[in-house]
Amino acid sequence: MKGRAAVETTRLPRPARLRYPGRMTSPTAQDALAQAQAAYAELKARGLKLNLQRGQPADADFDLSNPMLGILGEGDTHFDGLDLRNYPGGIGGLPSARAMFGAYLDLKPENVLVWNNSSLELQGLVLGFALLHGVRGSEGGWVHQKPKMIVTVPGYDRHFLLLQTMGFELLTVDMQSDGPDVDAVEKLVASDPSVKGILFVPTYSNPGGETVSEEKARRLAGLKAAAPDFTIFADDAYRAHHLFEERDTPVNFVALCRDAGHPDRAFVFASTSKITFAGAGLGFVGSSEDNIGWLGKYLNAQSIGPNKVEQARHVKFLQAYEGGLEGLMRDHAKLIAPKFQAVYDALSAELGEGGGGYATWRTPRGGYFISLDTVDPVADRVVQLADEAGISLTPAGATYPGGKDPHNANIRLAPTRPPLEEVEVAMRGVATCVKLAAEEYRAGQR
Ligand SMILES: Cc1ncc(COP(=O)(O)O)c(C=O)c1O
Repeated sequence: MKGRAAVETTRLPRPARLRYPGRMTSPTAQDALAQAQAAYAELKARGLKLNLQRGQPADADFDLSNPMLGILGEGDTHFDGLDLRNYPGGIGGLPSARAMFGAYLDLKPENVLVWNNSSLELQGLVLGFALLHGVRGSEGGWVHQKPKMIVTVPGYDRHFLLLQTMGFELLTVDMQSDGPDVDAVEKLVASDPSVKGILFVPTYSNPGGETVSEEKARRLAGLKAAAPDFTIFADDAYRAHHLFEERDTPVNFVALCRDAGHPDRAFVFASTSKITFAGAGLGFVGSSEDNIGWLGKYLNAQSIGPNKVEQARHVKFLQAYEGGLEGLMRDHAKLIAPKFQAVYDALSAELGEGGGGYATWRTPRGGYFISLDTVDPVADRVVQLADEAGISLTPAGATYPGGKDPHNANIRLAPTRPPLEEVEVAMRGVATCVKLAAEEYRAGQR
């Protein structure tokens, strides 16, 4: 792989939103606009049909796990001494699955509940039980307390959708290069007992790839909140999704909260959706043993237990994979890292190193996304231009609650799904759109 872009973010402080009135008549500005228009006309004429919107693995990623499909034969009816075909087995999941995914979360098996195919579903289940009954230490169901939840922006649109669908009022704090803006979180929780928690991605966040630092994680774990049941919901979807040898270090919120005297404060969610098969893997959650008991009690009322066949298949496959789960993640990185590099290379080639005053972007060490910020408030126009040129991007605003980015600047790029050559072509096209949108704006056309 070619030398990758610097690890540090290239994000610059947001500039004032000027409309460049003095530049409208400047011949250089007019030339720049004309050039950008010509480049865009060429792009459009190519009739591309590319998609950088889907945060999904590529077929080559899935292929790594194909042996899992045949790993259980007719004789594999029992696992961990349990009959996979029958109900008994418990609500927490197969013992070996709890051990495997406990190790993944840096937790003991008893601190983990392995459920079915989606961590998002598990988040919804836990939040639903909290609304109905409250979490441990609550005085009652949160639904009666007009609950508010802190989320980080830019962030994951499905978190916003889930929380808003469940009736939470969302409070936003910035995602900074070392995690959520904890100063802002401290202010929000200090006097308002209806602020029940924070939901965010602690490792290689969606979309920016930021990882919370140990120091910030400690501050969150020890936070003095007006709500006695303030809870950290950490969606650790990309905990092991390192792209390079140089890695971020995931934190252990369960241990940090325990050490800070809030043993029940954290729920950590993850899944194998971006490890084995998306939507056909395993979702799991780590927390205090008491919280796992709390969750198991409510899950047990609606299910006799999770799908043990799927759990056995995953354990058997991941144990047999060369290097185990870590080895599989390394093989994914070999496929995915060049796509991230292609994004940086294409943007730098078209816009100039560091974005040439048109855009900035982050260069994360892992995860699934790259967060691009236009310098001018033109993200919606970029997405529209790209769409008209046959390049599908995540809708502008999607990384903010309600689909409204106050800066109209952030665009989530998802380079994992398309083949490498398409990422390169698509990103050069995106850069062309960024340039045109900026020049239109600077020329006062928008
Ligand atoms: C942060 C984050 N959490 C959860 C998910 C979905 O996970 P699952 O398939 O386990 O529900 C995604 C998928 O893109 C994600 O980016």
